[in-house]
Amino acid sequence: MEHELNTLQSQARELLAAVENSKQLEEFRIQFLGRKGRCSTIMKALGKVPKEDKPRLGQMANSVKKEIEILYADKQKSLSLITAGSSSQDNSIDLTLPGRKPEIGKLHPVTQIMNEVCAIFESLGFSVAEGPDVEHDHYNFEALNIPAHHPARDMHDTFYVSDSILLRTHTSPMQARIMEAQQPPLRVIAPGKVYRCDSDITHTPMFHQVEGFLVDRNVSFADLKGVLTVFTQKMFDKKLELRFRPSFFPFTEPSAEVDIACVICEGKGCRVCKRTGWLEILGCGMVDPEVFKKVGYNPEVYSGFAFGLGIERIAMLKYGIDDIRLYYENDLRFLSQF
Ligand code: DAH
Repeated sequence: MEHELNTLQSQARELLAAVENSKQLEEFRIQFLGRKGRCSTIMKALGKVPKEDKPRLGQMANSVKKEIEILYADKQKSLSLITAGSSSQDNSIDLTLPGRKPEIGKLHPVTQIMNEVCAIFESLGFSVAEGPDVEHDHYNFEALNIPAHHPARDMHDTFYVSDSILLRTHTSPMQARIMEAQQPPLRVIAPGKVYRCDSDITHTPMFHQVEGFLVDRNVSFADLKGVLTVFTQKMFDKKLELRFRPSFFPFTEPSAEVDIACVICEGKGCRVCKRTGWLEILGCGMVDPEVFKKVGYNPEVYSGFAFGLGIERIAMLKYGIDDIRLYYENDLRFLSQF
């Protein structure tokens, strides 16, 4: 019995060492560890050994069986590692698989519209100027004929940095800055960020405007109408009707607010235009003589027009977006549509 156990042990070790694949391993299992395999045969034979040898031989048989089981499990593990490795190696380069495309970033819709607006005015001979977001009270208000305590200041919901420094509430201060530094003729647009303490579905505390102005001899309201008509037609790719409504701005006289025929219903009346058929898109007017005087231009010699439009508003109208806050939530599902 002892001899048989030793043979079983050494043969199992030898055979298992030679096993190279799962088929051989299975054959080994059946031969040694199966229900009718060599281990169970020898266990059964234990019943017939003399009583006094039983404990010793029983212990020996158990440890041989245990060893074979452990060796078998180890072999099984190492074989499965090899197969996993080799199968992943076989499939590692599948040239027919499509590549993974890296997501490509795009310009923000507001930037896209801003670029479009600038390109249209540049095609009309305007040059582009940029100015500071943190502005002097002087340029934001005083130079534009809005002195301290003027009721027009209330409309602006200004963020003040100090008594005389603020976040610009519109791009109009660029009129004063450019006119102060240059002589007519001038044809300039000034795009940029503006700030107002206001937030709801049509207002965000930061938004974008483009200011435009043209100063020369004999500039008339008809020139303003012509420029804005060309602009809106190019911007909305349609011959949209324009409506000039009398309005008031301290830095223009006369002043007007401009409506376009609703881009959604073309004037018939819908939810977007609140059934009026019109959408307000900008403010404009002839530069007030007071503004010219403050920068040292002679209002008897020069005249000019100015306008200011909100970029988010134009983008909302162009794309039919009804909540301005969407632009600044940075949800890629929204942004990637443009
Ligand atoms: N700055 C004005 C605003 O933010 C818009 C504006 C109106 C600009 C009339 C102009 C203008 O240049 O002539 O409400």
